[in-house]
Amino acid sequence: MGILPILHYPDEILRQVSEPVETVTDEIRELIDQMIETMYAAPGVGLAANQVGVLKRIAVMDVSSGKKPEALIVMINPELLSSEGEESYEEGCLSVPNFTGDLNRAGSVQVCYTTTEGRKMTLCAEGLLARAVQHELDHLNGFLFIDRLPVMKRDMIKRKIKKAIRQGVYQY
Ligand code: NI
Repeated sequence: MGILPILHYPDEILRQVSEPVETVTDEIRELIDQMIETMYAAPGVGLAANQVGVLKRIAVMDVSSGKKPEALIVMINPELLSSEGEESYEEGCLSVPNFTGDLNRAGSVQVCYTTTEGRKMTLCAEGLLARAVQHELDHLNGFLFIDRLPVMKRDMIKRKIKKAIRQGVYQY
């Protein structure tokens, strides 16, 4: 067990497409346990494996922030089956610390994935969970929420991060 360091934008690993998990081994389960611990410690409502430097299609999320044990969801090889509607909501990311932005995403999604026990699951999600699923799927495909912001807002965040890096107050 242990808390893993979270990679920050503009780390190139965050831009790579993660590979599917072929078999859910003990090593994968150990990684998932560490990801869960890291997410809760951050604290955050979701974490993708590439955020801790592992290019595998695994995401953990808990939109209750640990308040409801049943809200913890682990998705291995998630695939979006369908999405519907559009909602604007303020979003942030553990890999882009201290910045948030309003962006549009589907209001509800249907997603299938493999569980830690190796079973196939289909989940219909709406609201904050639908948003978390889409955010984590983006991570697995090398995208960050800032990529979906209006260009002016995105450029402003990038400029501020560059400045913070120069000042030595932002680490990645
Ligand atoms: Ni994120």
